[in-house]
Amino acid sequence: MSDLLNFDRQHVWHPFTPLVGSDDPVLITSAEGVYLTTGDGRKILDAVSSWWVNIHGHANPQLAAAIAKQAGILEHVIFAGFTHEPAIKLSQNLLSILPQNQAKIFFSDNGSTAVEVAIKMAFQYWYNLGVSRKKIIALEGAYHGDTFGAMSVGERGLFTDPFKPYLFETAFIDFPVKDNEEKVLQQFSSIVEREDVAAFIYEPLVQGAGGMRMYTPAFLDTLLSKAKAHNVICIADEVFTGFGRTGKLFASHYCKLAPDIMAVSKGITGGMMPLGVTSCSAQIASAYKTSDFTKTFFHGHSYTGNPLACAVANASFELLMKAECQQRIQHIEAHHRKFKQRIGLHAALQEVRVQGTILALELKTSDGTTYSNDLRKKIYPFFLKRNILLRPLGNVIYILPPYVITTEQLDQVYTAISEFLDSLTD
Ligand SMILES: Cc1ncc(COP(=O)(O)O)c(C=O)c1O
Repeated sequence: MSDLLNFDRQHVWHPFTPLVGSDDPVLITSAEGVYLTTGDGRKILDAVSSWWVNIHGHANPQLAAAIAKQAGILEHVIFAGFTHEPAIKLSQNLLSILPQNQAKIFFSDNGSTAVEVAIKMAFQYWYNLGVSRKKIIALEGAYHGDTFGAMSVGERGLFTDPFKPYLFETAFIDFPVKDNEEKVLQQFSSIVEREDVAAFIYEPLVQGAGGMRMYTPAFLDTLLSKAKAHNVICIADEVFTGFGRTGKLFASHYCKLAPDIMAVSKGITGGMMPLGVTSCSAQIASAYKTSDFTKTFFHGHSYTGNPLACAVANASFELLMKAECQQRIQHIEAHHRKFKQRIGLHAALQEVRVQGTILALELKTSDGTTYSNDLRKKIYPFFLKRNILLRPLGNVIYILPPYVITTEQLDQVYTAISEFLDSLTD
């Protein structure tokens, strides 16, 4: 075991992890349900669904069987000029639950590429029509992924600084909160009225990496209505919010107005295989329906439409659509809300937010900033020592569990959080 870690330390480069000064990673040897088993036999409760992907629990037997079965039939085939049943079936399944206007499915292999495809699809829509619309509007605090297009439409800062000269310009509007909605609408209106906006990209209802910040579907509808009045393509980034995370199958279902393009990933395979999907309306696709070869969408990846990923996504879809799973989602939300009531007035807390299976606790910070590294250094080991995996976002602790988590397991996490909050005010 120490050999493995020694090699890892020397040769493996982990994401978002400094090469100097970081603790050694925890070696995980297996997992089951909400638990990760470590090399030294500990069982760690995965309260963040391993970067928000795992919805049916680890090593889920039905999902594992679906991959194994598909691997024995067809593991992969080039998706240009060829197709296969798992991808066709997945397209049918997705179109049965996405907003009704979605009509075409494009496959890629992670959230960033799903967003990248969405942005390119929107830009080329206008290019194909011969209309000059080049600007994208995004929300301050947004996170859409780590590829260049996705970074360009995301919040600029520490993570994007080295790439600043290479990112395209984006018009950012303030994040909407209760008392600035009028101002945000004004910002948005003055940009879209210039008629040079190609698209508006947004994380519906919840900004994930931005700190689990939440805003209302009513205000999002106001923005969408304004955008649509000016023919601005609306792109919903549901990479994080999709597949039940916010209580409904997609956060867009809370809104009256549907997006033109959607990006999904993370929960789509229950965390079993990397897969990204970008869907679009018939109107978006219509700009590509031409005999002019130069107007083709020239984008693809080696693993586009991978049969193993599609097969396990279909199996995950079946589990997600079961009444039992939908009830679990509602149960988690109800339980989160009870805990919110119980803990809401704790002296260490600034705000507690719940949306579906997401519970976020924003801590007060001494210097008033929202990102405190010192706090993060305290939070992560506090919970890991108690065998709970929680990865705070600055001063925000959040729980976002696999839907199979039991009431007792949730209570165990809440208790640890209460103890942590008490330790801050003792
Ligand atoms: C809203 C949103 N979009 C895109 C991404 C990027 O997804 P991936 O990490 O799979 O590239 C993320 C990842 O957290 C996300 O939360």
